[in-house]
Amino acid sequence: MTERAEGLRNVIVSDSKLSHVDGEAGQLIYRGYPIEELAEKVSFEEAAYLLWHGYLPTKVDLQDLKASFRLTRPLEDPMKKVLRTLPKGAQPMSLLRTAVSAAGLLDQKADRANENVTLEVCERMTAKAASIVAAQWRLRIDEDIIEPHAKLDHAANFLYMLNGVEPTELQAKVFDVCLVLHMDHGFNASTFAGRVTASTLSDIYSSVTTAIGTLRGRLHGGANTAVMEMLQEIERPERAEAYVKDLLAKKQRVMGFGHAVYKVIDPRAVILRRLARELADSSGQTKWIDMCDTIENVMTQEKGICCNVDFYSGPVYHMLGIHSLLFTPIFAMSRIVGYTAHILEQYRNNKIIRPKCQYVGDVDRTFVPIKER
Ligand SMILES: CC(C)(COP(=O)(O)OP(=O)(O)OC[C@H]1O[C@@H](n2cnc3c(N)ncnc32)[C@H](O)[C@@H]1OP(=O)(O)O)[C@@H](O)C(=O)NCCC(=O)NCCS
Repeated sequence: MTERAEGLRNVIVSDSKLSHVDGEAGQLIYRGYPIEELAEKVSFEEAAYLLWHGYLPTKVDLQDLKASFRLTRPLEDPMKKVLRTLPKGAQPMSLLRTAVSAAGLLDQKADRANENVTLEVCERMTAKAASIVAAQWRLRIDEDIIEPHAKLDHAANFLYMLNGVEPTELQAKVFDVCLVLHMDHGFNASTFAGRVTASTLSDIYSSVTTAIGTLRGRLHGGANTAVMEMLQEIERPERAEAYVKDLLAKKQRVMGFGHAVYKVIDPRAVILRRLARELADSSGQTKWIDMCDTIENVMTQEKGICCNVDFYSGPVYHMLGIHSLLFTPIFAMSRIVGYTAHILEQYRNNKIIRPKCQYVGDVDRTFVPIKER
């Protein structure tokens, strides 16, 4: 009998040259570079180029990528019309999923965007995803869509399109690092789901739509919104310990903790914790990070479980003035680089993904005609 792997844990489905997660050592690399070094030294654009091409860009390569983003960042009228037609109070991940799917309909070449997919499509989808997330939010709060800034880079441009004001240097830098940290993570659930769709030689828009639908869940990308909702419910640092102990006593999960691969702390959480502290110190809003400290201590003592990327990204985004409903769409607009890089990799060396299940249903039943049932 074939060996069983619940949740596909530890099953190697195929080779990948994109990123590697070492869950025992708490290490993450993109194309051979440790995440700590990338977070410190490269921008979103450089990291995206690295994932797509396999090597770091030269100055000229980087200028070209920025120019391509600049050119494709503005939303065309049909997409704005789609966004205006969708229910503005809908869940932002549902809106993003629908908008990416609609982008496939609006792209004349989408049906051919499978094996022949080019990096141009990946760049376009990445640039547009940020504009879509910002535009949806503006419509939700009954404000006009803000056209992209002509000069700002990707991270700062998103904050600009969201708020209509240029972010400070610290805000832009912190947000840029957040985007780099979320870009790729091996065969996580949504990336794998996207690769499954690509493995049927479906088009890239369908594959990314699948991935976004998968990221939405609370056990995956949806956890960062849930973390912030928990912190807002706790309200004051002195209430954090009792709140978490109560959740554990009721056998409930504490969002932002535990991981399917990491057995030690998620290296991205270490970087985000430092950024959260920096933002808290600069803004004087220390209560969120104080609550996080307490919750981490309780979780270590009571369960021996470490936090993951979603634990500190929540308070970081909150301190950047971003609403918690946008946390998962922001995760998606960064991870779309990883999705598209994985989809290209899948197309290049494809085998349709088709695991088996163990049939545990009835056998040998006697058929009863409808008039006798
Ligand atoms: C991420 C996650 C789905 C991984 O799940 P998994 O690898 O299947 O781990 P399991 O669900 O088997 O959990 C193993 C044990 O740790 C406990 N555990 C795991 N995560 C926990 C959490 N966040 N809070 C409390 N207990 C947790 C489970 O209750 C289980 O304990 P038990 O063996 O006594 O029943 C899980 O840790 C989780 O639900 N975390 C919260 C959601 C989250 O932050 N997701 C973002 C991931 S980046």
